[in-house]
Amino acid sequence: MFRVLFLIALVPALVYGNVSRACTGDRTQPLSVQIEGCSAPPCDLVRGQNVIADIDFTTDRAVTSMTTVATATALGVVTNYPLGSNAVTCNFLQGSSCPLSANEDVSYRLTMPILAIYPLVSLSIEINVVDQDNNSVTCFVVDAQVKWEPIAVRTCQRHVSDLLLLLLIIR
Ligand SMILES: *[C@@H]1O[C@H](CO)[C@@H](O)[C@H](O)[C@H]1NC(C)=O
Ligand SMILES: *[C@@H]1O[C@H](CO)[C@@H](O)[C@H](O)[C@H]1NC(C)=O
Repeated sequence: MFRVLFLIALVPALVYGNVSRACTGDRTQPLSVQIEGCSAPPCDLVRGQNVIADIDFTTDRAVTSMTTVATATALGVVTNYPLGSNAVTCNFLQGSSCPLSANEDVSYRLTMPILAIYPLVSLSIEINVVDQDNNSVTCFVVDAQVKWEPIAVRTCQRHVSDLLLLLLIIR
């Protein structure tokens, strides 16, 4: 009984919300953007962890390949946010694959590592998915805040594992 309760306490709460706002220009906003652990912006980005975004959009034209371009704006400074192999959009489509035809509903899961070098400030991140001709397929902005990994969570998890160990020993 107690062990069940402790195990539940260890599972992080999964909260979702539709957290995007529109990009500048005529770029099409996705139907929905959900970021794990964020029900409303600004979303907390935890250093050393991955941000996972589930993005649903509809193509307005045929597309052979796509690239995800991330740009961060902090304190008025715009910088490219390197995504490495995660920028190959077509490798992360859920239930569909490239090439895509026009009017296809696409689910795309973007993984963004939050490197320790990111400053602890408020920032906005633009995610622009472009096609083979560098034309935007879908684009959104999410407001965020870079955070340290909360110490309370780490300490709490350690205490819980100590308790579990204790329960096993005295059983
Ligand atoms: C998500 O938010 C955008 C922008 O506010 C809105 O256009 C869209 O309809 C929302 N989608 C859902 C599924 O609520
Ligand atoms: C793609 O387009 C953007 C803006 O339209 C431009 O800044 C960028 O340099 C282009 N990239 C390539 C690879 O052509």
